[in-house]
Amino acid sequence: MGLDPFSIPKPWVIAHRGDSGEYPENTLLSFRKAVEIKADWIELDITYSADNQIVVIHDDSLDRTTDKKGEIRHLSYNAIRNSDAGSWKHPKFKGEPVPNLWEVWDFLKDKEIGLNVEIKSTAYEEIPIETAIEQELIDYAKKNSLFSKTLFSSFCWDSLARLRELSVDAKLGILIGEESSSWMDALELGFRLNAFSLNLSIHELDPEIVSKIQGEGFKVLVYTLNSEEELKKGISLGVDGIFTNFPARMRSLLT
Ligand code: G3P
Ligand code: MG
Repeated sequence: MGLDPFSIPKPWVIAHRGDSGEYPENTLLSFRKAVEIKADWIELDITYSADNQIVVIHDDSLDRTTDKKGEIRHLSYNAIRNSDAGSWKHPKFKGEPVPNLWEVWDFLKDKEIGLNVEIKSTAYEEIPIETAIEQELIDYAKKNSLFSKTLFSSFCWDSLARLRELSVDAKLGILIGEESSSWMDALELGFRLNAFSLNLSIHELDPEIVSKIQGEGFKVLVYTLNSEEELKKGISLGVDGIFTNFPARMRSLLT
């Protein structure tokens, strides 16, 4: 695999939850489509099921994106797998399952695309156990030589700190919530953890903040821009990457 997704000229087209504007988010179908339209990166969200399987899903529950209900952390992966994660988007996607991380990673590892794995805070255990999610991620990335095409991110900064303790090679993106924390705190943490990027909401950004963060040596990735107007604004800010549910739309604005 020749491509280094960390060296792609900016701004990176980051398919947020896959090609999720057109296909059901966080499914193998939406990841396949993101590869087909040549997004530079894919972002996905993960947490644990009740039986500690790593589930690719954004919400804490099945309610919005499947035909079943229930908290992910209280359901076995088998129960989650038996839900339909496609029909809510459109009946033609009926039967699309909620994937686990390993099958997505297996599908992507020989593709010319980067993967941003976002760890949801529900996966974090105060007391690290052998199967702590950070340990599992680092073990898999190491075993499959995936550090060169993987960015780990989280709003849960303790999770990022644990990843760094486990590996000096892991590339880390510090996620900054709209209300929870400031980019200045994130910058401080960025130095402490030797992070790769600060991942901010567009509402936090102006050109001055972008160049300040970049001047300190971090990349700036911005979420989540979807309309043509928003995408143009993000591009004009000079950010390094844009999370979008419409990667093909962003690509067409860049060519
Ligand atoms: O990583 C960027 C973005 O995905 C963060 O917010 O809620 O869409 O996971 P959310
Ligand atoms: Mg996300």
